[in-house]
Amino acid sequence: MIVVENLHKSFGGIHAVAGASLKIETGSITGLIGPNGAGKTTLFNVIAGAHAPTSGSVYLDGEDITGLPPHELFAKGLLRTFQIAHEFSTLTVRENLMMVPADQPGESLINVWLKPEAVRNAEMDVRKKADEVIEFLEISHVADELAGNLSGGQKKLLELGRTMMVDAKVVFLDEVGAGVNRTLLKTIGDSIIKLNKERGYTFCLIEHDMEFISRMCDPVIVMAEGSVLAEGTADEVKANEEVIEAYLGTGLKNKDTPKPVAVAGGQA
Ligand SMILES: Nc1ncnc2c1ncn2[C@@H]1O[C@H](COP(=O)(O)OP(=O)(O)OP(=O)(O)O)[C@@H](O)[C@H]1O
Ligand SMILES: [Mg+2]
Repeated sequence: MIVVENLHKSFGGIHAVAGASLKIETGSITGLIGPNGAGKTTLFNVIAGAHAPTSGSVYLDGEDITGLPPHELFAKGLLRTFQIAHEFSTLTVRENLMMVPADQPGESLINVWLKPEAVRNAEMDVRKKADEVIEFLEISHVADELAGNLSGGQKKLLELGRTMMVDAKVVFLDEVGAGVNRTLLKTIGDSIIKLNKERGYTFCLIEHDMEFISRMCDPVIVMAEGSVLAEGTADEVKANEEVIEAYLGTGLKNKDTPKPVAVAGGQA
């Protein structure tokens, strides 16, 4: 579904993405892992149109989508969520969901005057859709709560909910589990699997929690220093020497630095 070819993105002298090439198969839940600063979020930002790449290409179902703005990608069914949730804090959960669909007739003042019926019907459809999403995610108890009052995990669930308000094809989730308690993480994981199985969503998710990645993702792509280091099942990448080295990277680079005493077993 998604093909990334030799993608580069630099910020001044920092090569955040440096020649990344990868594929995301239709129907998969693909994991994207790698140490802090590996370029995972930047890769998402380039794929989802937030940043133009320095060079390289991105294809969606064979169509070159490199550098298209987010709203055009959204219309093609390519959606993303953010590492830090982007909710409208002074709107309720239901209202947040109702904000998502593009081109609602009620957004044009002229339509409100000339086609009040059409506006009302469209709004009722959107509300119905929002209520379906609320039910799907089992968050009915907070439907009328202001989004700003939700817990970190509930905000992540709301981000996932926003992707369900339109017909998404492929959804990029950036650390959907960060700061989320175990119970809620299981709910989020179950919702992702359900969306994948029942609605055919393809997912690519960045996550640091390897247990979550192992449960959810096949394949798992490992990024380090801006490019793809390895790909395989979760077990394969966990056993890959280069991957282990990349995660220990800073430690290995500084292997001559004396280790602090009393860390291992307190025997110093
Ligand atoms: N807007 C920006 N301006 C300058 N440098 C940036 C910008 N965004 C990212 N970087 C740098 O690019 C590199 C890759 O960052 P990125 O956020 O993509 O990593 P990541 O793999 O998502 O890390 P993490 O796991 O910590 O979220 C880092 O060195 C980061 O400091
Ligand atoms: Mg990141």
